[in-house]
Amino acid sequence: MSQVKFAVVGCGHIGKKHAEVISKNKDAELVALIDIKNPAELAIKDFHVPFFYSLKDFLKQHVNADVINIATPNGLHAQQAIDCLNAGKHIVIEKPMALHSTAAKKIINAANEKGKHVFVVMQNRYSPPVVCLKEIVEKNILDKIYTVQLNCFWNRDERYYVPVNWHGTKTLDGGTLFTQFSHFIDIFYWLFGDIKNIQTRLQSFNHKQLTEFEDSGIVTFEFGDDSLGCLHFSTSVWDKNFESSITVIAENGCIKIGGQYMDKIEYSHIKNYTMPALLQSNISNDYGNYKGSAANHALVIQNVIDVLHNKKSITATAEEGLKVIDIIERIYNASLNH
Ligand SMILES: NC(=O)c1ccc[n+]([C@@H]2O[C@H](COP(=O)([O-])OP(=O)(O)OC[C@H]3O[C@@H](n4cnc5c(N)ncnc54)[C@H](O)[C@@H]3O)[C@@H](O)[C@H]2O)c1
Repeated sequence: MSQVKFAVVGCGHIGKKHAEVISKNKDAELVALIDIKNPAELAIKDFHVPFFYSLKDFLKQHVNADVINIATPNGLHAQQAIDCLNAGKHIVIEKPMALHSTAAKKIINAANEKGKHVFVVMQNRYSPPVVCLKEIVEKNILDKIYTVQLNCFWNRDERYYVPVNWHGTKTLDGGTLFTQFSHFIDIFYWLFGDIKNIQTRLQSFNHKQLTEFEDSGIVTFEFGDDSLGCLHFSTSVWDKNFESSITVIAENGCIKIGGQYMDKIEYSHIKNYTMPALLQSNISNDYGNYKGSAANHALVIQNVIDVLHNKKSITATAEEGLKVIDIIERIYNASLNH
């Protein structure tokens, strides 16, 4: 089996993670790194691969790469994705796929035109409790879903916003639902589908000097036939992240998945159903070989390799990435009614 050749554009916090998991996968080869900062500043000297200061330069050089991983600030994803697709590369694109649904659609069009794959990074779909809930929902074990409550309560303060110039800006960051909480909107959509009749209230409590957007919000909506949902989110939690949780109340039971990254079953009481032994313990981030959200990028890269070797289908597709953007846009638009 031939190794899949990857290049990474954007070698900051998460781009380095991409480079690291690619380097560790025996079926993958890291062939180049690209960033506007210099390699010393980025502390990427350990990778021993050619470095480029711009994506355009890299694409001009016709380096032999199958896949380009885009890990730059959110507002740059769409154009870079289109440039890579037009150059005949598959792309892995960090969340959020784009900041506007029109831009996400252009990515899909470029991919279709060139016959290339788009992999959206939604690594929390691999979290064992989330996988378990997906199976419970798909097998209709809960029967009718009545209400779902999504809570996203994290800390993002000056320690996060001040040192990095794109954080907190409308054009490159986009808002807390794009940067912090799109993972959890993706999980909701993956489990329960689209939402409608959205009502949104947003506030900036303690980020007015730090960001160009809200830090907190309460969103109510409907989904399915007549089920009710609520998204309550905030980045104003003092000092550290509290939780990202989803609580489902349904005809046949109730389940709550919590922890920082929806990585822990906090409550489960379901008619004629016993939780798999691995998930019965409440030890977050320690399910055998699974080591929490950070470990899941390795699974994202493995999915790319498996798809390119015709063994699996894409875990999070461009169409699903677009749907998450569309939902976030509609949530933000609904706030304009107040
Ligand atoms: N999946 C996840 O859990 C997860 C976690 C963190 C970040 N992210 C996403 O990853 C992306 C990057 O986030 P980060 O925290 O690593 O940010 P970061 O600021 O640490 O890194 C971004 C890097 O991109 C580089 N860059 C900026 N403009 C560029 C350009 N035009 N060409 C090439 N490089 C350029 C910067 O110099 C920087 O090194 C964002 O989209 C973010 O939402 C995803």
